Amino acid sequence: MSVAPVKKVCVIGAGTMGAGIAAQVANGGVPVLLLDIVRDENDRNSVAEGAVKRMLKADPAPFMSNRAAKLVETGNIEDHLDKVAECDWVIEAIVEKLSLKQSLYEKLEKVRTPGTAVTSNTSTIPLENLVEGRSDAFKSDFFITHFFNPPRYMRLLELVTGPATDMDLAARIRDFADRVLGKTVVDAKDTPGFIANRIGTLWIQAAINAAMDLGLTVEEADAIAGRPMGVPKTGVFGLVDLVGVDLMPYLQESLTSTLPKDDPYQAIARDIPLINKMIAEGYTGRKGKGGFYRLNREGGQKLKEAVDLSSGHYRKSVKPASLPRAVKSGDLGALIASDDKFGAYAWAILGQTLSYAASLVPEAADDIVAIDEAMKLGYNWKYGPFELIDRIGAATLVERLRADGAPVPSILETAGDRTFYRIEGGKRQYLDLDGEYYDVARPEGVELLADVKLSSQPLMKNASAALWDVGDGVVCLEFTGKMNALDGEVMKLIGKAIPLVAEKYKAMVVYNEGSQFSTGANLGLALFAVNIAAWGEIEKLVAGGQEAYKALKYAPFPVVGAPSGMALGGGCEILLHCDAVQAHAESYIGLVECGVGLIPGWGGCGEMLARWRDMPGLPKGPMPPVAKVFEIVSTATVAKSAAEAKELGFLRKDDGVSMNRDRLLADAKQRALSMVEGYSSPEAPTFNLPGPTGKVALELAVEGFQAQGKATDYDGVVSSHLATVLTGGDTDAADTLTEQQMLELEREAFMALVRNPRSQARVEHMLETGKPLRN
Ligand code: NAI
Repeated sequence: MSVAPVKKVCVIGAGTMGAGIAAQVANGGVPVLLLDIVRDENDRNSVAEGAVKRMLKADPAPFMSNRAAKLVETGNIEDHLDKVAECDWVIEAIVEKLSLKQSLYEKLEKVRTPGTAVTSNTSTIPLENLVEGRSDAFKSDFFITHFFNPPRYMRLLELVTGPATDMDLAARIRDFADRVLGKTVVDAKDTPGFIANRIGTLWIQAAINAAMDLGLTVEEADAIAGRPMGVPKTGVFGLVDLVGVDLMPYLQESLTSTLPKDDPYQAIARDIPLINKMIAEGYTGRKGKGGFYRLNREGGQKLKEAVDLSSGHYRKSVKPASLPRAVKSGDLGALIASDDKFGAYAWAILGQTLSYAASLVPEAADDIVAIDEAMKLGYNWKYGPFELIDRIGAATLVERLRADGAPVPSILETAGDRTFYRIEGGKRQYLDLDGEYYDVARPEGVELLADVKLSSQPLMKNASAALWDVGDGVVCLEFTGKMNALDGEVMKLIGKAIPLVAEKYKAMVVYNEGSQFSTGANLGLALFAVNIAAWGEIEKLVAGGQEAYKALKYAPFPVVGAPSGMALGGGCEILLHCDAVQAHAESYIGLVECGVGLIPGWGGCGEMLARWRDMPGLPKGPMPPVAKVFEIVSTATVAKSAAEAKELGFLRKDDGVSMNRDRLLADAKQRALSMVEGYSSPEAPTFNLPGPTGKVALELAVEGFQAQGKATDYDGVVSSHLATVLTGGDTDAADTLTEQQMLELEREAFMALVRNPRSQARVEHMLETGKPLRN
């Protein structure tokens, strides 16, 4: 089926959600009309315009680039509603009030073109109530698309259709949401809270209740409910602070008023006086005066405090002592069996939450996969509820529930002593309600390395990297070290892989499924070498990296880099050496070496210069590209999206961008395969650089920053070495330098810096704190 593209979208309601959704449509490159009410007669578009202005300053940024912001056209519903006729999709994201939503739909019915999808972002109102009184044609084009906050960063989209919905139209919007907005679309039933918020609200409530009942501190509670369960380390109280303490009574009220009286949530929901008091006094979380945690400033010192759950007063925050061993090992079975308040707490949360999730198939979702996906992508859980059950054992869970006299959902009985997921014939399968296993289906165009790993062994591997056959004649180079750090082993594997690929395959992609593509060289290893003064080893590592990356660049087959998340330092440099890059839109790329007192040492300096020399719009002459690269690298600038990486020259203008993380591998493979026919490796660049006069100019600029207090004394030393490399050392514009000469300059400067104790202090500080030292 080929689906008609969505060429223009209208979002109505420019609040938290509507504005963020409009930004994400624009991030996907599609024009979007953003409408809100008229609040000021003299400035009729002020609400929508104000929302865009606020988003341009917000952090984390809703827009991936300033260019995207230009795709948002603002207006108001009184003057511009007829423009809806030009749109293929109208997303309603106005306040959660049925009468207002209904009256808006009535107006929309008159102006929209039939066949234009109209969807609501409602969190709580049933679909059948929303379309009451509308025509059949409207009902057929209407459904619910429930985004999560913030819409750019949360990957889940719950899609809820009604009995009258045109399923072809829903499929068209689903496809758009998947490919262009980058969302994982999960089908949910038209039941209160849909999937994620229904389970999430019960989970939060259960965790707060149990902490109070069992007498845990908030720190103890979060230590149990966070990491060991694969939940972000904020745990539950930290999460409530993040989303807003004031949201709690609202969520509770919306679920208790809409769920049936016998729903387990009704028994768990309770009014918590402490929360009411906190809200009344403005302690609404991070956006307010503080929440369960707060940073208090006393005598110029920042002091982390936490609420004492029994008295309601703040006290100094303390790390919980004497937690059960299972907290660290992550053995959930052992944790719930632990014979203390921590074990009881873990059980209270998991027993209630997991059995509730199990009871929602098929009521809220067709299968367990939808439930797991919703919790992983909507609440950032590492494991979905059924994956957590597998970690405990369904039979164990049933036994404990029975012992408590709690109801046992039928799907748990169906599982018996089996797991909900299994690997069969190299495929991941899930258990369905009928007691049979079925393959976990991937949408067309979604390929995952995790799936490849289920059915094959790597072509080669060592401690830090692996090479996989990912089909269609393409291999995948995967980094496997901690944080995907790069070291000599990675370089060795690259060296060994090239002849194999040249002989037996067509192309290579550099890709992995870590949350960060690579944060660069293994600094811990480098520091160790420094401490034993193994300068020869360090120089070998630098030279080895340069050689491996150049070998990749000149290999007789196309190499496509496919980053997602951070690609920093050496992780950025490998991308600079690829023939092309297919980047996930959420790629954060940068050469950050100066931050740790070093300079890019694996060929990044020359590659960036060659990039910027060809950048359109730059004045002619040897100095402009040098000054530009110096500015970007000396300040350790990191692009906050793939779009920004193009502006900074880390990516080429024609490099590809995949909005959907799950499509990255398939897209990168396709890009690599499209380059195979007639492939010839790139020609080596040569450089005409300004030499010492250019270096003086760059140093003057840094002195200016130092005078303003924007650069430290040692920043001057580091950037002076960088300036030497970028201006070509002892040369002038009439001289031609080779790529090899540039690499030598880079190596010399790197080695001079790494021997300096102030650089070493920066590296050490970064390893210890994760933050740069401003010495
Ligand atoms: P909000 O209060 O931030 O924004 C609502 C916007 O709608 C305001 O700018 C308001 O001026 C505008 N508005 C009100 N009546 C209007 C009308 N008749 N025509 C045009 N604009 C009108 O609300 P928020 O949080 O953005 O929520 C919007 C919708 O999204 C609600 O249905 C909510 O349930 C849902 N939702 C909210 C989430 C959240 O985390 N805030 C998450 C998922 C869904």
